Amino acid sequence: MRKQKKSYLKSQNLKIFGQGKLNGIVQISGAKNSALVLLAASLLTNEKIILENVPFLTDIEKMGNILKNLGVDLVDKNSQLEINPTNISIKELPYELVNGLRASFFCIGALLTKFGEAQVPLPGGCNIGSRPIEEHINGLIALGADIFIEEGIVKAKIRGNKNKLHGTHIKLNCPSVGATETLIMAASLAEGRTTIKNAAREPEVQDLCQMLNKMGAKIYDSGKETIIIDGVNKLSGCTHKVIPDRIEAGTFLIAAAATSSSITVSPVIPHHLEAVTNKLQESGSKITIKGNSISIKGIEIKGVDIETAPFPGFPTDLQAPFTALMTIANGESKITETIFENRMNHIHLLNRMGARISLNKNVAHIKGVKKISGMNLVGSDLRSSAALIIAGIIAKGRSKFYGLEHLDRGYENFELKLKNLGIKIIREINKSTFEKNGYKGKPKSEDLSKLKAA
Ligand code: EPZ
Repeated sequence: MRKQKKSYLKSQNLKIFGQGKLNGIVQISGAKNSALVLLAASLLTNEKIILENVPFLTDIEKMGNILKNLGVDLVDKNSQLEINPTNISIKELPYELVNGLRASFFCIGALLTKFGEAQVPLPGGCNIGSRPIEEHINGLIALGADIFIEEGIVKAKIRGNKNKLHGTHIKLNCPSVGATETLIMAASLAEGRTTIKNAAREPEVQDLCQMLNKMGAKIYDSGKETIIIDGVNKLSGCTHKVIPDRIEAGTFLIAAAATSSSITVSPVIPHHLEAVTNKLQESGSKITIKGNSISIKGIEIKGVDIETAPFPGFPTDLQAPFTALMTIANGESKITETIFENRMNHIHLLNRMGARISLNKNVAHIKGVKKISGMNLVGSDLRSSAALIIAGIIAKGRSKFYGLEHLDRGYENFELKLKNLGIKIIREINKSTFEKNGYKGKPKSEDLSKLKAA
């Protein structure tokens, strides 16, 4: 993987000059939530996988380290990863690498179905919720696994002396993205047919199915309510390009609406963002779609209600950025988070900036105000961090954002892209930390943004 730099993110911050305007075209990176599961899926074959358009993110580096720890050979050629899983020798994921990267749990399905066993630490909860895994576990048991949890490690083994899982009919209680992906990977090498009812329909799940079918899998109706997987004996290598990140694209569109700016985001797959562009239009922005690009002209900001939902509904990952937009809308709005139980961590800081938001459990009622004021801001998860940075750009006066260890997990060169669109934003590091760790001379913000967390 790309050479890891020591983590400086805790001693770094972004200085944001408010009342900014965005202008121009922003290049959208490959989707984090697709690249992560495609890396896990590479465990299903003995042959080389070439992944293109992989974003440079700390979560991707962590997943790469997990694969390397299993014996996978990874060659990082900028946004292209060559993955060679021929010499996998270990089936246990190491706790210290897995901790804090929920997507690593999705490896359990691939390891179990390929090697007959797997040991994966329980994924911890995080700032947005408890993040349970019973849908993954129950599905694997239905496919013929014995699973028990010992000292925080999920130990899975194919039942009896069989060397293959067996196809079955699974109905998910909730359309979990991760559980759908885990079970698709497990079923791809099982004996016979598996159906997954109430499956997640997210584009990242569909991207996984596209890559697996390129590898020789037989998966039908991805993106529909019931996915069908006919198990095969083996999967081959392939070359696959990661789809564009719809959440990154939506974040920039929302930032443009919030600053009454005109920008274009590209490449995107427009229908991946339909729920978001519809809401931005309802709120008063002008949206133009041309091929693989979406242009927005922020004109006015009317208060609109959103309720997050599984795809194709409004994505939970854009709830926080959209809330930031609604703080300065004309009129009232209601934001309802239905996916995660604790994903309103940005509200209290938005209120301290001058927003008027009343929160009742997962429902925020917002009365739009004329302006909010800059201040010191601390992100608590990936998407609330993006929301607070948008708030800093909207605000009157300067803000400092802390919590880059969250931001750099999911947004590639976020502040550089904003700077290229005309926003005055600087990544700062306190000089002593910089020199103490062997870097000489005054840090330049362009260099700093290449410093990534371990
Ligand atoms: C994926 O998480 C994404 N992460 C999340 O993106 C995204 O917010 C989420 O899907 C929803 O779209 C990756 O793909 C790596 P879920 P995942 O299982 O799979 C409940 C970001 O910011 N649930 O669809 O963990 C769960 O508690 C991240 O990029 C169960 O109850 O999400 C939650 O309430 C954040 N039991 C809901 O389902 C289970 O066994 C959705 O979770 C599994 C999930």
